[in-house]
Amino acid sequence: MLKGRSLIEPMDLTLEELDEILDLADQIIAGPSEFADVCKGKVLGTLFYEPSTRTRLSFEAAMLRLGGSVMGFSSGESSSAAKGESVADTIKTVACYADIAAMRHPKEGAPKVAAMNTDMPVINAGDGGHQHPTQTLTDLLTIRSLKGKLNNFTIGICGDLKFGRTVHSLIKALSRYENIKFVLISPEELRIPEYIREEILVRNGIEFKEVERLENVMEELDVLYMTRVQKERFFNEADYIRLKDSYIVNNEKLEKAKKDMIILHPLPRVNEISVEVDSDPRACYFKQAKYGMFVRMALIMKLLGVEK
Ligand code: NCD
Repeated sequence: MLKGRSLIEPMDLTLEELDEILDLADQIIAGPSEFADVCKGKVLGTLFYEPSTRTRLSFEAAMLRLGGSVMGFSSGESSSAAKGESVADTIKTVACYADIAAMRHPKEGAPKVAAMNTDMPVINAGDGGHQHPTQTLTDLLTIRSLKGKLNNFTIGICGDLKFGRTVHSLIKALSRYENIKFVLISPEELRIPEYIREEILVRNGIEFKEVERLENVMEELDVLYMTRVQKERFFNEADYIRLKDSYIVNNEKLEKAKKDMIILHPLPRVNEISVEVDSDPRACYFKQAKYGMFVRMALIMKLLGVEK
């Protein structure tokens, strides 16, 4: 039963629950008008202490398209956090006004603290360099819709694997499906954190390799998941400047890729995918942003326990 629960990290959901959410998202895609008022009278609070375009707007669009309403703030400065209020007090207050909340916060664990302080469902919309479970739901729905399955493929994840929370959540979630091979492509300094390597990949006997050059592995990949170097998590600007353009996918580099490979990116993109790639049929990152809204519609319905 998902009703009344929070979603803080991908492992909060069993594989069956994940399937349930993705199946509901498929139904919504097939007939969105049938879901137009299922959340009538319900309110979503969006508590965003960090910048966001897709995550916040897709949550808001999701609730509006379900017939519900939204309220919230889009920076810590415009909330009482600027006066020194704790996350615990803020969520207790929001729970007086809303039925469900999505929270993005620069501090790892903040949405978990929020969830521990209320009975209202809290969704982690990204906590620091830690996890981003609804981006993962988006990624899974996109892969399942476009490739028809979530098993038996090789996924290349490229860029900032150290600070990229979308990467950490995606690896966790995909590690439970059969025969997924990971090719982890990053500069030495931006390799995946130890806890992901040891506790997820090594412990579960999952096949993976860590490489520095994307060109050398391009032809092996069924999915290429590009990520932005996470400027805001760097301690010094010189390191960011040195690493920011480590990877730039362009048409020439894609010549070696499989014809049915899909290119994903949680967005925002900076330089890591040239704009010329957007017209390649393998470029699926804007479709992915749309799947993000549908999967959030499904998640909100499940956590609120509303049905068609
Ligand atoms: C990601 C995030 O916020 O972690 N964006 C998103 O939610 N789609 C990726 C990023 O900011 O690079």
